Amino acid sequence: MRQVAHLHFYAKQGSPLLIATGENGIYLASAPSALVGKASHMVRLADGVVGVLEADRPLNLEKLGKLDSVPTDSQQGDKEGFKTYMEKEIYEQGRVLTLLGRLSPKGVSLELPEGFLEGVSCLSICACGTSYHAGLVGKYLIESLAGLKVQVELASEYRYAQPATLKGELFIAISQSGESADTLEALKLAKTLGLKTLGICNTQSSSMGALVDAMLLTHAGLERSVASTKAFASQVLVLWLLALQLANLGGTLEPQEEQAHLQALSTSLDTMQEALKAHTQIKDLSIQIAKRDLKGYFFMGRGVFYPLVLEGALKLKEIAYVHAQGYASAEMKHGPIALADSTLLSTTLLPQNLLFAKNLSNVEELSARDSLIFALSPLEVAPATFYLRTPPYPHYMNEFFYMLVLLQLFALEMAQLKGLDVDKPRNLAKSVTVE
Ligand code: F6R
Repeated sequence: MRQVAHLHFYAKQGSPLLIATGENGIYLASAPSALVGKASHMVRLADGVVGVLEADRPLNLEKLGKLDSVPTDSQQGDKEGFKTYMEKEIYEQGRVLTLLGRLSPKGVSLELPEGFLEGVSCLSICACGTSYHAGLVGKYLIESLAGLKVQVELASEYRYAQPATLKGELFIAISQSGESADTLEALKLAKTLGLKTLGICNTQSSSMGALVDAMLLTHAGLERSVASTKAFASQVLVLWLLALQLANLGGTLEPQEEQAHLQALSTSLDTMQEALKAHTQIKDLSIQIAKRDLKGYFFMGRGVFYPLVLEGALKLKEIAYVHAQGYASAEMKHGPIALADSTLLSTTLLPQNLLFAKNLSNVEELSARDSLIFALSPLEVAPATFYLRTPPYPHYMNEFFYMLVLLQLFALEMAQLKGLDVDKPRNLAKSVTVE
């Protein structure tokens, strides 16, 4: 009888399981990012597979399933001189994100199967966390540009909600990893309900990829930091492109408005690059803000800036461990304003191209109740305690991407001032493969 030093058993059901071989042995992982630099090839195991690994017996990966390559981009795998992956990923947004061949002088063209968007009468979008916030931005864009009704649901709610469907409904699942358990279950449910499905995902060989009828990859490159930054920006870009393509199909946009969007889209990556110049200012403001004895952080915005503040609040909450909450600006008076006093900071986005005066009046209401105000705007905001002047872009979506970077940097600086590990916030995992 042969004596075996170590036996390792594996079994796959539901959650993803990858098996890979590298110079130093055999690896089992739930996401390809964990294998970067360790293995070159991997196999995504199917549900129901069980096996045993023996320390002294080589493994023939090909026998286990379809061989995929592990992302190898070493440039994306290291910190490139930055202190943290999160900072690196914020900084590279304007550089690594791409509109690929999706935007040309002729307009938008997404690589979808022939006729895929024809007959689409409404959309439902499902996702979790940051990806859900991108979905909410998508709703504003698709509804206002293409005139199609969009419903956005948290995947964890959708899957148990017995959702009603409509004829011509397109279901979109958004996920950086393509592995979030709730999103995958929502997607499976949509399929059993007979809906046509589209994935917006950053990971080509993901569980989501195997389920959807069509996929739009976000091409953000490997995201290592647990707090999602560039993946969010890339999801919004894809949803914006989709909104424009749907608008084009339906003939819903005046040529002038379409041109304004195409112009804003083609400059949005430069905008994110320009926003980095405000990093020192954000750092200085964060130092001043951190000195105050604050008990709460509100974030306020309207339109597409509403999901953006939800995202800004989530970033701050998850890496700086403070209580932060995003609100649609006008919701203050329906309850939250009761919390306003000098221990509350209300960070408000006041773009000049979208409802500036309305936001200003919401800021005035809060300031009158002693809340501290952190205003981001190209225009003067008299009640602001802290103020960062943003450039006067001609389109609200340029303002959106500029302010996105500022909010990411703000969360980063606030967390670093507390000496926290921003890349690995406590209690969180990069892909949430369990319910
Ligand atoms: C927050 C964050 C999470 C994810 C969420 C969904 O910074 O990263 O909220 O967005 O867990 O993950 P994906 O997009 O991989 O489905």
